[in-house]
Amino acid sequence: MNPLGPTSPKDRIIFALDVEHFHEAQHWVNLLKGHVGIFKVGKQLFTHSGPKIIDMITQKGQKVFLDLKYHDIPNTVAKAGEEATKHQVAMFNLHALGGFEMMRKTVEASRAIAKHLEIPRPLILAVTILTSMDEETLKEVGVQGPIPEEVGRLASLAQKAGVDGVIASPQEIGIIRERCGKNFLIVTPGIRHPSDKKDDQRRTLTPKEAIEAGADYLVIGRPIKEAKDPIETVQKIVEDIS
Ligand code: C5P
Repeated sequence: MNPLGPTSPKDRIIFALDVEHFHEAQHWVNLLKGHVGIFKVGKQLFTHSGPKIIDMITQKGQKVFLDLKYHDIPNTVAKAGEEATKHQVAMFNLHALGGFEMMRKTVEASRAIAKHLEIPRPLILAVTILTSMDEETLKEVGVQGPIPEEVGRLASLAQKAGVDGVIASPQEIGIIRERCGKNFLIVTPGIRHPSDKKDDQRRTLTPKEAIEAGADYLVIGRPIKEAKDPIETVQKIVEDIS
């Protein structure tokens, strides 16, 4: 098991707080705290509510995955990473396509500020190729290779830069494990039970299948949020992956 990875089945579950307002987010954190490992704050909620959303979650003793997918010049991303670290998020992410130096500098800056402030450093994750892109749209932006090849290559680059792991679709877990070994975190969205609505997710795995395939963490949103009984649904997922 990856020493940086989750220590219990519940800790593997990252709930996607895909809501618009602070109060809605607060409702979900109050309901699910203690039942999931981490709450993921994305661009919409963060842009609406700002850093106080992070503080609300951490003040309840819960962990935050700040999903802002940084991509800019190395100095700018490193500075943003420092701020995320100061907010004591458990995880944040950046785009591997931002390049080796951007990733390396951010890892270094986050570690340095955490050491200086004597606080834990967040895990840093890379996005390889967005799952919304296919080979045609990738060619438009000058990326030529077959998607699995590009994903493997970028994951390996992220690892060399000191990044802790990647966000990857269920189909990509195999190639990433092959290229990066077992001490590299894989966080996987696109999790559905056969009875769940697929929503806009095309290629899905069940929680158990994703863990068996080698995922460390599962990002789950709508299957929990839209369930009749969200707590019961989370408990079933935990049982499934125990
Ligand atoms: O509701 P659902 O379980 O589909 O939510 C999945 C979460 O993971 C969403 O916040 C979505 O933005 C995110 N995500 C994804 N696919 C990716 C990367 C992130 O679904 N490739």
